[in-house]
Amino acid sequence: MSIIKSTSYNIHIEKNGFEALNTFLSKKEYSKYIIICDENTIEQCLSRLLFNCDILTTAEIIELESGEKNKNLETCMQVWGALTDIGADKKSLIVNLGGGVISDLGGFVASTFKRGIDFINIPTTLLAMADASVGAKTGVDFEGIKNHIGTIYQPKGVFINIALLESLSERHIINGYAEIIKIALIADADFWKKIKKLKKLETFYSEDIITKAIELKNNIVKKDLYEKNIRKSLNFGHSIGHAFESAILQQKKDILHGEAIAIGMLVESEIAHQLRFISKAELNSISSYLKTVFKNKSLTNPTKKLILSFLKHDKKNEGASLCFAFPNPIGKYKLRCGVTSEIIENCISKL
Ligand SMILES: NC(=O)c1ccc[n+]([C@@H]2O[C@H](COP(=O)([O-])OP(=O)(O)OC[C@H]3O[C@@H](n4cnc5c(N)ncnc54)[C@H](O)[C@@H]3O)[C@@H](O)[C@H]2O)c1
Repeated sequence: MSIIKSTSYNIHIEKNGFEALNTFLSKKEYSKYIIICDENTIEQCLSRLLFNCDILTTAEIIELESGEKNKNLETCMQVWGALTDIGADKKSLIVNLGGGVISDLGGFVASTFKRGIDFINIPTTLLAMADASVGAKTGVDFEGIKNHIGTIYQPKGVFINIALLESLSERHIINGYAEIIKIALIADADFWKKIKKLKKLETFYSEDIITKAIELKNNIVKKDLYEKNIRKSLNFGHSIGHAFESAILQQKKDILHGEAIAIGMLVESEIAHQLRFISKAELNSISSYLKTVFKNKSLTNPTKKLILSFLKHDKKNEGASLCFAFPNPIGKYKLRCGVTSEIIENCISKL
């Protein structure tokens, strides 16, 4: 088992089990436990949790419909209502059992219910374990804008049981792996050298890989929780990635966050090379690995145009210029890089 000390809480990583969770709960006195889950985590993860954690067998269960489309204020209202009906009070504990949708929404509900009650996360996807477990961002989407309403509110603990990933689909494992690739590219050249050799799905979520990804993100977040400075480095791949995600969703097609970020990293690496932040050899190694993991995805012309129009609304922009964070070189980063539309268009058209 590993323990990583984050901002005000610990992240516990276990291969298989809930030992740390049991220890944590045995030291606390909560008036009520409320587990928030969705129809998949209730089926795949809840019985395993309750079987291994006696204290939670008395918990009330709130089941939400899965998916990003439900990460909104209407769902929050359902949960606030259910908490009120259950009689939850300031001393209750919310237990988020799910992927990033459940932890973002459950964390936001916890941060606002009675001006803030305790919550913990038991992440059940690779993305929620390796990325969303760190940084205390909670929130929901609003009027089509991702994570538009939210808070920075820290859980009392994060309890990772890697065995919960056994039931997760291959597509969702790869989706979470995108953020592991990203953190390697901006934070640790040796970690990048290690992961770029990994080709088999089961190697993407070993204890070592998840722990290292969390440590690297944690080192950044601990120095800049409110994203005034170095936390912006975590946005590598996200400027183009978010624009691509919005363009695809507007076309009513299906895309996962990590898949969009992979495209974002491909284009942004091309830009980083044009700006001489990374060498041709580095660019080639990034694109060939991303294309191996995510299979080659090509962009249609309307999508390319839509990406540019969405990019202009990116909240990471400062003033009129489009603002990016790039590897410089791999394993380090450069922040607040203004890039012209011509360079962006040129790099998008190479895809
Ligand atoms: N707060 C942060 O720092 C942060 C960071 C990155 C992403 N996010 C957010 O995370 C969300 C995406 O998270 P996600 O990819 O985990 O999506 P998700 O929560 O929608 O989970 C993906 C799917 O897998 C199912 N599932 C979850 N665990 C399972 C399991 N063990 N077995 C079988 N099925 C399982 C879910 O029901 C869902 O259908 C986005 O809303 C994104 O904005 C937050």
